[in-house]
Amino acid sequence: MAETQTKREMLASRLGFLLISAGCAVGLGNVWRFPFITGEYGGACFLLVFVVCQLMVMPVMIAEFAIGRASRRNLGLALRVLEPKGTWWHRFGWISIVGSYMLLMFYTTVCGWMLIYCVYMLQGTFHAMPPAEVGKFFGGMLGSPSLQLAGMTTSVGAGALVCAFGLQKGVERVVKVMMAGLFLILIALVIHSVSLPGATEGLKFYLMPDVERFQKVGFLPIASAALNQAFFTLSIGIGSMCIFGSYLNKNRSLTGEVCLITGMDFLVALLAGCIIFPACFAFGVTPNAGPGLVFVTLPNVFSSMDGGRFWGALFFVFLSFAALTTVIAVFENMVAYLMDILHMHRGPAVLVNAVLLWLLSLPCALGFNLLSGIEPLGKGSSFLDLEDFIVSNNLLPLGSLMMVLFCTMHAGWGWDKFASEADMGSGLRLSRHPALRFYLRWILPAVILILFVTGYIDKFGG
Ligand code: ALA
Repeated sequence: MAETQTKREMLASRLGFLLISAGCAVGLGNVWRFPFITGEYGGACFLLVFVVCQLMVMPVMIAEFAIGRASRRNLGLALRVLEPKGTWWHRFGWISIVGSYMLLMFYTTVCGWMLIYCVYMLQGTFHAMPPAEVGKFFGGMLGSPSLQLAGMTTSVGAGALVCAFGLQKGVERVVKVMMAGLFLILIALVIHSVSLPGATEGLKFYLMPDVERFQKVGFLPIASAALNQAFFTLSIGIGSMCIFGSYLNKNRSLTGEVCLITGMDFLVALLAGCIIFPACFAFGVTPNAGPGLVFVTLPNVFSSMDGGRFWGALFFVFLSFAALTTVIAVFENMVAYLMDILHMHRGPAVLVNAVLLWLLSLPCALGFNLLSGIEPLGKGSSFLDLEDFIVSNNLLPLGSLMMVLFCTMHAGWGWDKFASEADMGSGLRLSRHPALRFYLRWILPAVILILFVTGYIDKFGG
């Protein structure tokens, strides 16, 4: 083991670690899902609940990094390395590879939509197109198997290509550039959007507490949506953060790094809404299209804006960067899994994963056209809904539950070992107050279980 450990690739810099982890977290959840559920669920009221949820689940990210850093392994093997002799925690290692695959099986298709819209925006396709046509256009794109396959294949190919270049030369270098670009574009878009005439109304809709809207939806569904969103946006529970812990040196304590990563993730989500809502209100469009907001409402908005082709293209480049950094980071976890467990070299591990992921992404990509007759979760549902449900309502929360129990139970890795790993290096330390341990051992698991059950009731309870 010592020999393999010395050969393990490591990240070149702290900035690389922070940006890759933030890149893994920042994704469609921030720039697509967060703005529309915040708008729907009562603006600032939802925001407040969401911030509490993010704070609640942050320790799971600390746990993932600690498990990775202490074991120098992918989650699939890390549990075996750290568990007390004779215990069975390693049997949960599969969650890492299954969770990563399941996430990317639909993520690559939606990432493909972003890439396709980038091209359309650059070509000026939506210019002077009547609003109803833009809606039809989105439907047409979903209905075209060749377009769906092209978008999905490009996403899978991008993830594979970057990972093939190695950890430092591929993943770290590319994600760093993309994240820097993402932040620059984000700032430019926010400044442009909030300076449009009438933008204030949009900001009010997005951010002013609207108790009426909040009460209409009800606290439980909102809390459940916010907690699900917190797991999804931080990509915790499936070992995709654990892997970057395994490439990290011991110079900095983990709590401070997690605060920075979570802060970046939150900022991107918050600011994505500050681009979308002011623009909608400035052009008299009600942002109530739910998931279609980005693909139907916004092209309308951009097509009526001065320089809309430029701003629209920039917006979809921003969304594509957000999605691609997640694809690359999660793909790296899949590559590391095969390298750690099957002792494969990086090249073959990338190839095997690329072929498998492409095949497994087919149901989602074809689920809106050739396979649209299959409605796995009932009328109107698609493979995307099924895969999203398996990941968001099952694997992310249950994987997180397993990790907090592993880090706090005597029969697992245990609190002392976990806390001392988390605190290695300089920076913010984990509180040793017994209340934190109690919270992680009992309260958070209970909350996760409640969320798990309510997710099923919401979905299948009639
Ligand atoms: N954390 C990723 C996202 O927010 C999965 O899209």
